[in-house]
Amino acid sequence: MQHLPIGVFDSGIGGLTIVKALNQALPNENILYYGDTAHLPYGDKSPELLRGFVADICDYLLESGVKAIVIACNTASAVTLDVVKAKAGTIPVFDVINPASHYALQVSPMKRIGVIGTKTTIQSHVYLRTLLELSPDALVVEKATPLLVPMIEEGWVNSQISLDIIEAYMSDTGFAHLDSLILGCTHYPLIKEEIQAYFNKSRPRPVEVVDSSVAVAQAVQKHLSESGLLNSSATLPVHQFVVSDLTPNFQATAATFLGREVELKVV
Ligand code: DGL
Repeated sequence: MQHLPIGVFDSGIGGLTIVKALNQALPNENILYYGDTAHLPYGDKSPELLRGFVADICDYLLESGVKAIVIACNTASAVTLDVVKAKAGTIPVFDVINPASHYALQVSPMKRIGVIGTKTTIQSHVYLRTLLELSPDALVVEKATPLLVPMIEEGWVNSQISLDIIEAYMSDTGFAHLDSLILGCTHYPLIKEEIQAYFNKSRPRPVEVVDSSVAVAQAVQKHLSESGLLNSSATLPVHQFVVSDLTPNFQATAATFLGREVELKVV
């Protein structure tokens, strides 16, 4: 069981930011990553449609033999967690919402927390519900920021365009008095520093920008360790990356998200 891979899935290649954090926290682990590039983006699709896509992905991962499933997508975590859990049975399932919410509360003395994500994630209010369950007196401000995913995929980061778009979204009056801002989308770690710089420049009090990938990797590490599922083998881990559709663009962008070259295979 320990030697089986961790199954990780996302709507596309953005979930590789979670794989990058998993590789850092769990360097021995084998990983099977599934990017549903044939159906992306998930962020503007209905929960009903996404539940069908995700059920098929779970079948693939479980038939391949995985010891845990990580939903490396905020939108899928928001609207398909119950589907994944029902498919997985006794296999542990990790979503991105819970670890990020716990961490945001830890770093928010006044409990004023902003959340940005895709339209489907924000419309689900999953972060609002989770944060209020953990801390009923939290003040949560949610905002859909749909232009950020295509902007990042176009490579328009650290540019005047990204500065302008980030400013247009972050200057929302609801975000005026935040302690922290949760990056509720797998793509956003690529612009974490730009968003942090915006708040550092424009706010008198510090605002901590929370990257859920690190919090998720820590949650997976803790659970596998406590349940004796960590891979203790000394051989080099195998990392496989499969997608439901392959284009040169996905192949090129994958390296940006993972931080190293990667070979995608279509299944
Ligand atoms: N992976 C999605 C998320 O984290 C963003 C990309 C998409 O819309 O498919 O919400």
